[in-house]
Amino acid sequence: MTDLYSVMGNPIGHSKSPQIHAAFAAQARDNMLYTAQLVPLEGFADAAERFFSHGGAGLNITVPFKEDAYRFAGEYTERAKRAQAVNTLKRMADGTVLADNTDGVGLVRDLTVNHQVELAGKRILLLGAGGAVRGVLQPLLEQQPAELVIANRTVSKAAALAEDFADLGNVSGCGFTEVEGAFDVIINGTSASLSGELPPLPVSALTPATVCYDMMYGSGLTVFNQWAQDNGVTTTIDGLGMLVEQAAEAFTLWRGHRPQTHNVIAALRNERR
Ligand code: ATR
Repeated sequence: MTDLYSVMGNPIGHSKSPQIHAAFAAQARDNMLYTAQLVPLEGFADAAERFFSHGGAGLNITVPFKEDAYRFAGEYTERAKRAQAVNTLKRMADGTVLADNTDGVGLVRDLTVNHQVELAGKRILLLGAGGAVRGVLQPLLEQQPAELVIANRTVSKAAALAEDFADLGNVSGCGFTEVEGAFDVIINGTSASLSGELPPLPVSALTPATVCYDMMYGSGLTVFNQWAQDNGVTTTIDGLGMLVEQAAEAFTLWRGHRPQTHNVIAALRNERR
């Protein structure tokens, strides 16, 4: 029997998830079908209900339904509870729906496994305080950085987020211009680059050895990574690897075995050329 999976979002046309999961399925000859569904803005719960009642095995959820998916689920992983937004749902044997958020572990795997960037004991700066940042905080803090600073345009949101995660490590919040000292790793989790803008970060946050990671990706360098390179940073990474790794983590939750990701990341990079 073919197991059914889907990604739901709005818009959904540019989603690479069907291609990524088809590549994973091909590796182990998993008999699965993964489709993309455009869901009306007010229609997530109905669409998800319909999907699971027709025998669907698992869903990925993208913008703007990650909070709706959180409310839809009946059971949660610890990191999903912390994130309060989820990108993965799985129908369990008893019919309940388990929610997970694999974005953070995808980011951590891309950094630590694919790019061999050490996070333990390091100074990490995380830019932004929206859903994307909330979704990655627990897995980042589990790496036990010496310090994690959340900087955001709206300072109160950074401070509130830091407070929510204070029990997991040394985390604080501030505004961009209040950022002090240099960091080992800077992760851009704002949506500023969608409008071609840059968070106004002091260049003193950078050293040539700082690793700059943009959770966004595009056809060339992101605005943020360009800024980092212009200021002497040698290692800049975009979010394409995170995209594939969060998908791999969802696939593992659904299927019980982990797919290889390197060849899938390489294929997507080649397509962009
Ligand atoms: P997402 O789900 O992508 O995190 P979000 O919850 O709307 O989306 O959060 C967007 C984040 O990008 C926020 O941290 C936002 O800053 P504010 O909290 O001050 O709104 C940040 N952001 C968006 N546009 C930005 C810009 N031009 N400069 C700096 N930060 C920006």
